[in-house]
Amino acid sequence: MVKRLKIVAVLLALLLSLAGCKGDGEKAVAPAPKPVAANGKEIKHPGEKIKIGFSMDTLLEERWLKDRDLFKKAVEGMGAECEVMAANGDDALQISQAETLISHGIDLLVVVPHNAEATAAIVNKAHQAGIKVIAYDRLVKNADLDLYISFDNEEVGELQAKEITKRVPKGRYVYIGGAITDNNAHLFKKGVFNVLQPLIDKGDIQIVYDQWSKDWTPANALINMREALKATHNRIDAVISANDATAGGVVQALKEQGLAGKIPVAGQDAELAAVQRIVQGTQTMTVYKPIKSLTIEAASLAVRMAKGEKIDTDKKVNNGKIEVPSVLLSPIAVDKSNIDSTVIADGYHSREDVYKK
Ligand code: BGC
Repeated sequence: MVKRLKIVAVLLALLLSLAGCKGDGEKAVAPAPKPVAANGKEIKHPGEKIKIGFSMDTLLEERWLKDRDLFKKAVEGMGAECEVMAANGDDALQISQAETLISHGIDLLVVVPHNAEATAAIVNKAHQAGIKVIAYDRLVKNADLDLYISFDNEEVGELQAKEITKRVPKGRYVYIGGAITDNNAHLFKKGVFNVLQPLIDKGDIQIVYDQWSKDWTPANALINMREALKATHNRIDAVISANDATAGGVVQALKEQGLAGKIPVAGQDAELAAVQRIVQGTQTMTVYKPIKSLTIEAASLAVRMAKGEKIDTDKKVNNGKIEVPSVLLSPIAVDKSNIDSTVIADGYHSREDVYKK
C-alpha cells in the first residue's frame, strides 16, 4: 500500500514538472532565453562579462602551468572571465573540451593545439558558432584561424645553434627534436639548421643522429639519446635538444655514460630544472621565452577581439590555408653568464631556487 502511494506521488511530481509547475502548485519561473544572433551566438545582456575559453594541450611541462595561471589572471584583470580546459595530449579530448567551452557561451576561443592539423576541427566548430579563434604559442594548420600569437620559434632554434656552434664549431652533432605533431617542433628544427647547414656543407659539422621525440616527453628523448650514444659508440661532440624537458632525458643518458657536463647541451623554456643544470654545468644553455609578456599580450588581443575590435598585426604566417595575422615575441638565449639578468631579474625563478645546492 505504502509502495503504491509512493509510486503515485512520484508520477504526480513528474506530471507537474512536465507541465512546468512546481510541487506547491506555483508556476516555475523559467530563465528568460538569451537573445541569439543570426549566426547562433548568444547576444550578451548589457553589462554581462566577456568570456574567453582557453583550450590547452597539456599541463605537463612547467611552463604550461605558468601560461594557464598568468593568462587567466591577465584576462580577469581586463574585467573578463576565463574558462580553462587541458586535454592531456589527447586530440579527441581537446576537440570535445573545445565544444564544451563553446556550449558554455564563450565569446572567443584561445587554443594551444596538441596536434597542429587535428585542431583545425576546433576552429571550424567555433566559427560555426560565430566564435573567433586565436592560436596560442602553437599554430593551427589548414584552418581559417583568426590570429596567431607566439614567439619567433625559428629564432629559438637559431639561438640554440648559435650558442652551441660558438663552443663547438666543428664536430659530431646530435639533434633531439620535439613532437612531430607540433608545428613549433618543425620551426625550432628549421632554425637550428639555418645555422648548422652552412657548417655541414663546409664539412665542419656532421649530424650523427636526428630524431623527433613523441609528445615531447623526457622518457622518449632519453630513449633517443641512448640510441644516439649506442649508434656512435659515444662519439658525440654536442647535442641540441628541442626543449628543456627533452634535454632532461638527454642529460640523463649522458650521465649513464659518464658524459654529463662534458658535452654541450642546448634546451629551451628556462625550466627551473634546466636553469639548475646550467648552474651545475650539465646543460649549456636554454632559451627563455617570457611567458608573462605572452599571456598579457594574448589576453589583451583576446578580449579586444571578443569585443569585436579589428586587430591589425605587422606579421602574417602561412598555415597552409591562409596568411594568419600574427604577433611574434622575441626569445632570449640564456647561459651561465646571464641567468641573473634574465630569468631571475624577471622573477621567472627565484635566485634561491636557481642556486639551490
Ligand atoms: C612550446 C615549448 C614547449 C613544447 C612542449 C612547444 O610548442 O613552444 O615551449 O616546451 O611545446 O610542450
